[in-house]
Amino acid sequence: MSIRHFLDIFPLPSSELRGILDTAKTRKKARLGKPKGAVDGDAILVGHTLAMIFEKSSTRTRLSFDMGIRQLGGTSIVLNAADMQLGRGETIEDTSRVLSRMVDAVMIRANNHDDVLAFAEVSDVPVVNGLTNTSHPCQIMADLQTLEEHGLDLKGARIAWVGDGNNVAASFAHAAPKFGFSLAVGTPKGYELPEIDVERGRQEQGRIDLYNDPIEAVAGADVVVADTFVSMGDTDADKRLNDLMPFQVTQDLMNKANGGAKFLHCLPAHRGEEVSADVIDGPASLVFDEAENRLHAQKAVLEWCLTS
Ligand code: CP
Ligand code: NVA
Repeated sequence: MSIRHFLDIFPLPSSELRGILDTAKTRKKARLGKPKGAVDGDAILVGHTLAMIFEKSSTRTRLSFDMGIRQLGGTSIVLNAADMQLGRGETIEDTSRVLSRMVDAVMIRANNHDDVLAFAEVSDVPVVNGLTNTSHPCQIMADLQTLEEHGLDLKGARIAWVGDGNNVAASFAHAAPKFGFSLAVGTPKGYELPEIDVERGRQEQGRIDLYNDPIEAVAGADVVVADTFVSMGDTDADKRLNDLMPFQVTQDLMNKANGGAKFLHCLPAHRGEEVSADVIDGPASLVFDEAENRLHAQKAVLEWCLTS
């Protein structure tokens, strides 16, 4: 059987993605009230080791995969790319071949998406994309879990992305046709979602609407999503802040969305930049459920990669 990599949402069938989301919700419920370090009753990944390679900083991704593999009965090794021979020029392919001989799965957070593809191409074990310059699929699984847990039927829902058309926005676009929601993307000119991601989001009757006006983007939205204006690796921070400030999610902007609209942000957040404090710390905000769900969603991704 072929190896199950979790590199992006767009190549995967809706049925598999639905299965991952359902597993995340079921596992979360099954361990309610247990200490966070306790192993799940079925301990399905006993004997398995996950290696995590980080070329960029992380709080949630590192914690969720580390706690997640432990809750499934396995263990983890965290590798900072700068401390590896990778940082001194060993090839990504040789690194991958070596890790395949010693661990059962690898999660990578990389500067360059092509490096993750090259790593997976020669890997004998599942590889998970823990964020690249172009996508963040694990985040979107947690986001969709959060919305469903708060009662949103994704089929037919309207989600508005406001700000930079970045890696997280791209994965939202990839998920739209898979789960049947429409995505409104509101960005300044020059910060639009890449055309390839718009096309991926429009496959299978997916609906992606593009705007250069935040008010138009949130009209009719059940959910408003923001992310940092300056992603890891971006070098033009001052220009970005200047260009993107008119796309800050404020309470005024939330009031233009549907009544009861929810707010999501993958975190880390910058209050007063992409979102005002009253929105992210207010009643519409689901950001800490969203952060917690990284754990449950990433466990479900690991289970899908390693046990089917
Ligand atoms: N949302 C997210 O991926 O957070 P970290 O960068 O802390 O992992
Ligand atoms: N777009 C952000 C997400 C961080 C989780 C970045 O790439 O830095």
